[in-house]
Amino acid sequence: MLDATHPPSAEITSIAHIDEAKYEEMYAASIADPEAFWGEAGKRLDWIKPYTKVKNTSFDHHNVDIKWFEDGTLNVCANCVDRHLETRGTQTAIIWESDDPNIAQHITYNELHDQVSKFANVLHALGVKKGERVVLYLPMIPAAAYAMLACARIGAIHSIVFAGFSADALADRINGSGAKLVVTADEAIRGGRATPLKKNVDEALSKCDADVKCLMVHRTGGDVAMNPERDYIYAEEVERVSSHCAPVEMNAEDPLFILYTSGSTGKPKGVVHTSGGYLTYAAMTHQYVFDYQEGDVYWCTADVGWVTGHSYIVYGPLANGATTVMFEGVPNYPDASRFWQVCEKHKVNQFYTAPTAIRMLMGLGADFVESADLSSLRVLGSVGEPINPEAWNWYNEVVGKGNCPIVDTFWQTETGGILITPLPGATATKPGSATRPFFGVQPVVLDPHSGDEIAQTECEGVLAMGDSWPGQSRTIWGDHARFVDTYFTQYKGYFFTGDGCRRDSDGYYWITGRVDDVINVSGHRMGTAEVESALVAHKAVSEAAVVGFPHDLKGQGIWCYVTLMTGEAPSEELRAALVKWVRHEIGPIAKPDVIQFAPGLPKTRSGKIMRRILRKIAEDDYGALGDTSTLADPSVVDDLIANRGNT
Ligand code: PRX
Repeated sequence: MLDATHPPSAEITSIAHIDEAKYEEMYAASIADPEAFWGEAGKRLDWIKPYTKVKNTSFDHHNVDIKWFEDGTLNVCANCVDRHLETRGTQTAIIWESDDPNIAQHITYNELHDQVSKFANVLHALGVKKGERVVLYLPMIPAAAYAMLACARIGAIHSIVFAGFSADALADRINGSGAKLVVTADEAIRGGRATPLKKNVDEALSKCDADVKCLMVHRTGGDVAMNPERDYIYAEEVERVSSHCAPVEMNAEDPLFILYTSGSTGKPKGVVHTSGGYLTYAAMTHQYVFDYQEGDVYWCTADVGWVTGHSYIVYGPLANGATTVMFEGVPNYPDASRFWQVCEKHKVNQFYTAPTAIRMLMGLGADFVESADLSSLRVLGSVGEPINPEAWNWYNEVVGKGNCPIVDTFWQTETGGILITPLPGATATKPGSATRPFFGVQPVVLDPHSGDEIAQTECEGVLAMGDSWPGQSRTIWGDHARFVDTYFTQYKGYFFTGDGCRRDSDGYYWITGRVDDVINVSGHRMGTAEVESALVAHKAVSEAAVVGFPHDLKGQGIWCYVTLMTGEAPSEELRAALVKWVRHEIGPIAKPDVIQFAPGLPKTRSGKIMRRILRKIAEDDYGALGDTSTLADPSVVDDLIANRGNT
């Protein structure tokens, strides 16, 4: 049965941190008295100056202001590295699994300390100071974690740009954050294929201020151009520095990182996370959601270019003194058994991945999974998009052999950590539901029209949060008004997630997907407006409208309706050129699945594109087009339907 309920097994309940009764008790306490609950939870970190204030937050749109532990001071890097040295210096902190299945590296906490301190000294030597931004454009190599922690150590703010983004996207983020240093590698290597990162940086820097420097680490040893005025080689710089670097005292509310993410307008937003609350929340969720126990090996397959990599490869696990796996490769290289081979090789206990990967592997059959010994697995996680029940059941039965609780974790770049999720020993799961809120999280379902909170348990609407939690983003870099406008204005007094959701009669949450113009492609968030502005930047295009449509593997695919300039004619060559163009402008994750040439787009008389209609056509659901009589030219729709097949 697809929607059967799966209670936690007696075995899991006996070892897990908490059971159902304890969850109920802790959850109730966290809501009844957040000050007391988080005041206690914050003690999991080492503070230089302990906080005396815990929560000071306002969702009032006139004055959105979010502060946690505001008078405390700490250093995030010291919490993730230094404080473990005495008790677990020789324990493995990071297991790095290379793209090449024959290469892995175990990095102890002692080694991590040494590497991070040196990296921090190199940053310092290049002039990076507390509060300054550093852009990291790196493959999934240990240096990515060193660079993040090194920034935290000296109080610099990192902004990671996913290495799959293009030079243009990188330039926008360097300029947006005002960074004066970009850290990169010669090349990235994934699935045996190299990506020229340094070359992309060169192209990006041609669009940035002349004083932006580049620090390059070696990954492949590939040939790269070096500009002696601007470029530095890490291997050379590190020779000049000591391995001692004292962590800088930071306020709990000092920014730790900026991470750009897509919204419903064209320009990506620099989501800002701060130090004390973020780390408390990342660490606590990591421990409870994955039921991380001493000695476990934990693996999150995400890339550090996304928030999942920040919170659940680096900060959460390392703050907990865990052993965290960092994987450079892809699920199907050298073949589709790779994930499972890595689980067997490193005896992984918790495995955390995205539904798109599960669906892809499911399609290739169970043999790849069965080729590996997966007996070490205890908890399986999912993140990034709704997981369809078929994929959930396959994950549960074929990968977990029915013995591993599945934690379907709902959260966002803006939330810093997991908000709605089962806990392994405590929550009966239902395939496709993210289930119940984490401690301190107060989900509410709002009527999308009135904005009123829906009181009855069973309901459907948009998902918002009624109060703050420590991991929440504090602002958008350089644009607090946009922060307020995006999350706190449409539904006053709440943090609006942008997602739709259903709550069932057991109070379980089922996320139904974005209700704004953000689409979710293979678990990656993409603003349709970003793809549109890339398309209209092409000389042949006069207008473009982009929508998501259901895609078996990716969750959603990218469907582009394109109107050409007068004199330009539709052709297969132009179609291919436009696909290539978008890939180049934004990066491979934005590659359009469908380009439909359209002589006109459906618009209201005031000129607004009716996306609802375009979505329905892309979904092949013409019966549900709704009222088209308000269109300036209703015949446009007939043409779009008639030509839908020619794509
Ligand atoms: O639509 C939701 C979806 O991913 C969006 C957030 O994307 P991003 O900021 O890139 O962060 C992804 C990783 C945390 C959400 O607004 N989403 C994320 N997790 C789930 C999900 N949708 C359904 N179920 C989930 N478990």
